[in-house]
Amino acid sequence: MAMIGDIDVGDFPLLLAPMEDVSDPPFRALCKEQGADVVYTEFISSEGLIRDAAKSVMKLDIYEKERPVGIQIFGAVLESMLKSVEIVEASGPDIIDINFGCPVKKVVSKGAGAGILKDIDLMVSLTEAMVKHTKLPVTVKTRLGWDHDSIKIVEVAERLQDVGCKAISIHGRTRAQMYKGEANWKPIAEVKNNPRMHIPVFGNGDVDTPERAVEMRDVYGLDGAMIGRASIGYPWFFKEVKHFMATGKHCDPPSMQERVDAARRHLQMAIDWKGERLGVFETRRHYTNYFKGIPNFKPFRMKMVTSDEPQGVFDAFDEVLAEFGDYQFA
Ligand SMILES: Cc1cc2nc3c(=O)[nH]c(=O)nc-3n(C[C@H](O)[C@H](O)[C@H](O)COP(=O)(O)O)c2cc1C
Repeated sequence: MAMIGDIDVGDFPLLLAPMEDVSDPPFRALCKEQGADVVYTEFISSEGLIRDAAKSVMKLDIYEKERPVGIQIFGAVLESMLKSVEIVEASGPDIIDINFGCPVKKVVSKGAGAGILKDIDLMVSLTEAMVKHTKLPVTVKTRLGWDHDSIKIVEVAERLQDVGCKAISIHGRTRAQMYKGEANWKPIAEVKNNPRMHIPVFGNGDVDTPERAVEMRDVYGLDGAMIGRASIGYPWFFKEVKHFMATGKHCDPPSMQERVDAARRHLQMAIDWKGERLGVFETRRHYTNYFKGIPNFKPFRMKMVTSDEPQGVFDAFDEVLAEFGDYQFA
């Protein structure tokens, strides 16, 4: 059983990874329904939050049905991070997560995200100050290191634990790797095997089949799996992993009706939450996966991703059902 502070997140929990423009309330709701044990918001800029930037503040929206939920923030300036902790606390999450892993230039160049992997003392002192500033459990998401020659994740994880971090999720790549190559889970297992470690160590990176999740549990001995890209447009991934972990068998893939229902609800929730324009626009990236593998699907997908009005997209869903309603997914 894994505990994040006082929160029991079960045996080998599956965590929905924080993903910018993906892990929003509508998507988190769908993943939760399909078995995600912990969900995280997309990352939120501490500098944006303290300036009350509308987009950052909106990302604080969380709902009862998705608990336990972690709000993830990033930044590198102590005062901004502490002020953000107060702002985040007011929205009532279960967990505050610090992003020490984002590799993109505009974040790293300010010393935030994975940029902090160049200054481990700052990473530790920021974490310590944030832990002391809140009663909520603080967790950290990070990468193996800045580059191949500077991987010190065993030592880093232990230091974070010692200053009160309650769980750590580690993406098995360095910043230098960005998203290239394969995630390396060996150093994550070394973190877990450190006899001094007692907080949960969650593995992340390339869990894209139920078998890989089982490997992370049984071969690498980690405490849970954080899942990102495999869930985009495919919230059923959580259910499929759980089923496989429990039975050793694959469950049937969702039917066309289930896929269309999920896509409809996703779009409707997105419109309700962020308005028609953004709702239509930002849900587009999910459709490819919702309807993956269907032959001659292109015209339907094109309609879904080029309609600027919700009705056009809903019509495309109806047409898909009429045309492919009894399609059997492999
Ligand atoms: C579209 C996208 C957005 C992401 N945004 C974030 C983010 O906001 N915060 C974060 O910690 N990681 C972010 N990540 C990284 C993921 O959380 C995860 O670490 C990475 O995708 C590896 O896991 P996966 O192989 O299961 O996708 C993002 C990844 C993707 C693909």
